[in-house]
Amino acid sequence: MSALLDEQRGLLEQLVNPQRVKRAGRTFWCGQWAGQNVVLVLTKVGKVAAATTTTVLVEAFGVKSVLFTGVAGGVGTGVKVGDVVVADAFIQHDLNSAPLFPRYEIPLYGRSTFDCDPSLSAVLLEAARTGLAGVGEHFHRSLLLEAPVIHRGLIASGDQFVCDPSAAALMRADLQAAGHEPLAVEMEGAAVAQVCHDFGVPFAAMRTISDRADAQAHLDFSDFVNQVASPYALAVVGQFIRLRPQK
Ligand code: ADE
Repeated sequence: MSALLDEQRGLLEQLVNPQRVKRAGRTFWCGQWAGQNVVLVLTKVGKVAAATTTTVLVEAFGVKSVLFTGVAGGVGTGVKVGDVVVADAFIQHDLNSAPLFPRYEIPLYGRSTFDCDPSLSAVLLEAARTGLAGVGEHFHRSLLLEAPVIHRGLIASGDQFVCDPSAAALMRADLQAAGHEPLAVEMEGAAVAQVCHDFGVPFAAMRTISDRADAQAHLDFSDFVNQVASPYALAVVGQFIRLRPQK
């Protein structure tokens, strides 16, 4: 899954025997990729839309694991545009039921974060390393980017596009004060992680850093997604499917 069409460009062309199924206002593409059954879908933007899409994906399509690829704003030290974050866990940075529950805690779950599946995430990390090595130096240089550093850690999700350095700094400082160190910010992952947790479906996610969640964040967003994030997603997902143990 990805949020936006641009984030998934090129993936649909990989499906053998693609079949289109419409549910809940979403288009699910079912087919085979490297001999495995795969469903591609766009979550749309924000946590509610992502939760709906994930629920349908699990309940109606019976998927055995979920992989999310897309873009995020970098908020961790040294997490720069063009880098990749493979998520260890997700938190909702805009969830606050204090004083009823501690800040960030999801009421009635007794927790603030949902971990990604460790073995699926290990495969994703390996897929990112090998897949992005193949994308090539020429590609990075022509886009004035350094070769991507692949980070691993916490991603924070919320229903805001963060494009203000002071808002990003405050969000990070508040999370740090509660013992959380976010590397990146986006708008869907924590919802997908929570639904996957509810259904017991393994989940892994990677985000390419499109911006630093500052005043430049919206500039060239779509160009970046098309020229960098979607080729990265294509390279990594292709590797991931080949590396993932067959069930
Ligand atoms: N996705 C990509 N960049 C983002 C940002 N700065 N805030 C929220 N979601 C994003």
